[in-house]
Amino acid sequence: MTAAATVSTLNDAVLSAALTGLNVKGQKSLPPWLFYDDLGSALFEQITALPEYYLTRTERAIFAEHAHEIVSALGSDITLAELGAGSAAKTGILLRAASAAQPNVLYQPIDISASALDEAAASIAEHIPGVAIIPQVANYITERYTITRPAHYKVMALYIGSSIGNFSPTEAISILCNLRHHLAPGDALLLGVDLAPGRHKSVDTLLAAYDDAAGTTAAFNQNILTRLNRELAADFDLSRFAHRARWNARDSRIEMHLESLADQTVHIAGKRIAFTPGETIHTENSHKFTTRALKTLLTNARFTPTRTFTDANHTFAVTLATAT
Ligand code: AVJ
Repeated sequence: MTAAATVSTLNDAVLSAALTGLNVKGQKSLPPWLFYDDLGSALFEQITALPEYYLTRTERAIFAEHAHEIVSALGSDITLAELGAGSAAKTGILLRAASAAQPNVLYQPIDISASALDEAAASIAEHIPGVAIIPQVANYITERYTITRPAHYKVMALYIGSSIGNFSPTEAISILCNLRHHLAPGDALLLGVDLAPGRHKSVDTLLAAYDDAAGTTAAFNQNILTRLNRELAADFDLSRFAHRARWNARDSRIEMHLESLADQTVHIAGKRIAFTPGETIHTENSHKFTTRALKTLLTNARFTPTRTFTDANHTFAVTLATAT
């Protein structure tokens, strides 16, 4: 495909996502993949370092503590395949442990962003020599992807960073079922999810993680409108859409919205979209799992959880599950 064709395909996807989500009678919404243009990806990287955003550092600490046990759970010849690898920053911990435990490590990152994969490959080549990499540019939701298995190797699939939290329970099962089709019995999945509020984790802790004091998450959320202004020549006035994070207890999820602060009309590709004051655009769900919900999800996708690693406060869980 030429560069021009790639750009217009992307714009088509952005346009159709925007109109499907906004040109509606009921709750307006935009899909969270729209967050991740260059600025949005950089803002997300900043979020992962915020004091309130405990997810990334907690998962990293769990990896650091249990990396050896995790990578040796399947024996000595494993290949790691990662859905939504991004910059693969945390994965480095597992790759380092794997390359200490076995001679040839093959890493297969799958991501929608070619530039993120290039960066990941460069940084791994520099810091963890001896790891072979097969990067794959693919949207693991909508596109086919492949997982390579060298002879006598087992596959450990990684789906970490609470990425699965963006999806509804039904979508989450289908993502894992699809992944399961790429695996054989005895392979494994390492799944990282954010846990539901409980004794050591309050709803306020959760809300703060999605509405930080520095306003980085607000900027991340509003950037979706900047993107539509730029790519679709829309005319959102950012000062009239406020970031909101809400806890939805029934569905056990944090929701992010952009709330219209006025009675206003926005133009997108020749369509007029009207907003009443207080009306919101729902931009993201971030599901928080109970241990029970986690087990049900895995079992429904034909995985058997074998070990769950968590932090002292039970904020985040990294579960190792065998393909059955
Ligand atoms: C990338 C989906 C794991 O849900 O916590 C961070 C995205 N949104 N702050 C999450 C996000 C707002 C993040 N995931």
